[in-house]
Amino acid sequence: MKHVLSCEQFTRDEIMGLFKLTDHIRENEKAYSGAIADKVVATLFYEPSTRTRLSFEAAILRLGGKNISTENAKEMSSAIKGESLTDTIRVVDGYADAIIMRHFEVDSAVRAASASRVPVLNAGAGSGEHPTQALLDAYTIYKNKGKVDGISCAILGDLLYGRTIHSLIKLLSLFDNITVYGLSVETLPLPEEYVKFIESRGVKYVPVKCLTELPKDLDVIYQTRTQTERFLEQGIVAEEIVLSKASMAHFGPGTMVLHPLPRNNEISPDFDDDPRAKYFEQSLNGMYVRMGLLYEVLVNNK
Ligand code: NCD
Repeated sequence: MKHVLSCEQFTRDEIMGLFKLTDHIRENEKAYSGAIADKVVATLFYEPSTRTRLSFEAAILRLGGKNISTENAKEMSSAIKGESLTDTIRVVDGYADAIIMRHFEVDSAVRAASASRVPVLNAGAGSGEHPTQALLDAYTIYKNKGKVDGISCAILGDLLYGRTIHSLIKLLSLFDNITVYGLSVETLPLPEEYVKFIESRGVKYVPVKCLTELPKDLDVIYQTRTQTERFLEQGIVAEEIVLSKASMAHFGPGTMVLHPLPRNNEISPDFDDDPRAKYFEQSLNGMYVRMGLLYEVLVNNK
């Protein structure tokens, strides 16, 4: 049994193995259509989701598995009656062979895993981590660049509360010669613990103040939404750095733009038909990477 809780748990070989398996499944989808036919997978979501839940559920169904789901577990499960997370997990682990969970608390996935007899896959834990998103982000970089080593990546937007960013930079730190540029408003910087972690693994971290400070031949811009729901009461003012046809003119043809989505105004729709816009390809990749991940956890027991 293996839980997927944080990007700190992966090795480089595991990531490359997952990318290979994902490609194999993608190219031979029929051969995998009954791969988990004897498995039931629970999707337990205490926070809103479109892509993560639906791509996981599509992945389960495409591998022939069965799905039990609660899309609004905060109000529609016994949590509203005061049931603890660990009690819920102790029950659901009897019904399902794996539990995919999104929750509003940073330590939720770790707590759930400690109570669960079946694998727990963290599908987003508060403002902490979102490891399966990082896997599909890195896979999208790999597919477009042919490698992850040596890439330069600017992280934009909400570096403080953005769990997709926290997981992605930890994952990138497994690769060689990585440069990460951080661009956010002053109120939403990358927490020091993440800077320290990636620097300890040899990543060069460079905070910048505006888009034009970034190199023109940058490999990846990873834009994110301001996580307003995490700081509604704190009065933080967060002006957005907007990517548009005009602001992207600074960069060359090799600068791909990723975004975990959903977006608000931080990427103007006028950029969507630019060949450098990869965010919809990225969300489709998510389904295939999640098929690979489910196969690893449920079939290969890795
Ligand atoms: C993100 C999330 O939920 O963390 N979305 C996703 O999973 N694709 C990003 C966000 O909500 O801004």
